[in-house]
Amino acid sequence: MKAAVSATSRYLPKQIMTNHDLEKMVDTSDDWIQSRTGIVERRVVSEGETTSDMCTHIAYELLKRSETEPDEIDVIIVATVTPDMPTPATASIVQNRIKANNAWGFDLSGACTGFIYAVDTGSRLIESGKYKKVMVIGVDTMSSVLDYTDRNTCVLFGDGGGGIMLEPAENDDNGIIDSILRTDGSGGDYLKIPGGGSLHPASHDTVDQNLHYIRQDGKIVFKYAVKGMADISEEILIKNNINSSLIDLYVPHQANKRIIDSAAERCGFSDDQVYININRYGNTTAGTIPICLDEAVEVGRIKEGHLILLAAFGAGFTWGSMLIRWGK
Ligand code: ACO
Repeated sequence: MKAAVSATSRYLPKQIMTNHDLEKMVDTSDDWIQSRTGIVERRVVSEGETTSDMCTHIAYELLKRSETEPDEIDVIIVATVTPDMPTPATASIVQNRIKANNAWGFDLSGACTGFIYAVDTGSRLIESGKYKKVMVIGVDTMSSVLDYTDRNTCVLFGDGGGGIMLEPAENDDNGIIDSILRTDGSGGDYLKIPGGGSLHPASHDTVDQNLHYIRQDGKIVFKYAVKGMADISEEILIKNNINSSLIDLYVPHQANKRIIDSAAERCGFSDDQVYININRYGNTTAGTIPICLDEAVEVGRIKEGHLILLAAFGAGFTWGSMLIRWGK
């Protein structure tokens, strides 16, 4: 029995931060950001708005669109690197808010690949036969870990996310067809939030040293991301004996337009096969792919029966790809 996507939803905070806003904070320019990343603007949460708040919006919409009662939810998985707090899990907060009284849940930390990891995990829970409704949400509040004096990071990221409902496929042709998932921890140093964990517990000293902010060596991450995204996208096509012309929509993680373009070129996708919205939202980490999926469904670029390829690369390093035949 395969797992299929029965509904999608997304949530983007209202507040827009443009490249021109960032020009007032750091030594950067709209031209530099657009030409190096493809980003024009991103969303940021309003004061007090949290990851669980965004997840709750997404979860309510998923319940409505999949015609599900809260009590029917079996599992809630939240992919995020910016939970409300280390514990309880954001999934627990969401469970309580939406009154999913029969559900259990957990957070999954896979950075930009977190959503694909979470969908794969959720689909295995469905395939086991034990669970019928698994809510998978990918959301990040990157503004909570960004240093708005560091131009190497603050221009790249934004807040937001989305989710999907997984259920047993009604049609055998539909559902999650395959995935390839990878981790290489030797890349961990190049993109990390060093403070606030057991290595550097939060203290005046860690805050003085800005260890609670995300740090990255952009050049190295870029190099690995270009190769990782292209390799893993090509690998799943070859493994499943699928010519790239048969993919209706390629939905890559939105980290940098140049990374997306180079993976798309390697796989032989034309522009109309690739979904891109990084110009409007920047990199929302675990949020990018579910946001893209929901938008693409809304504008008719994903339809019943379409063959969809997801791919992501992120901190860890983590990377992965997934093939989905859309529909219940
Ligand atoms: N504004 C203006 N100039 C800048 C900025 C900025 N925001 N940031 C860096 N620069 C400068 C650099 O200091 C450098 O100046 P120098 O030549 O005088 O030293 C110059 O611009 C060029 O810098 P590069 O690092 O060569 O620029 P590059 O083309 O590599 O682009 C970028 C930088 C956009 C960060 C790129 O390396 C990248 O996208 N890396 C991947 C990072 C990423 O996406 N991380 C997210 C998580 S992982 C993932 O999701 C894939």
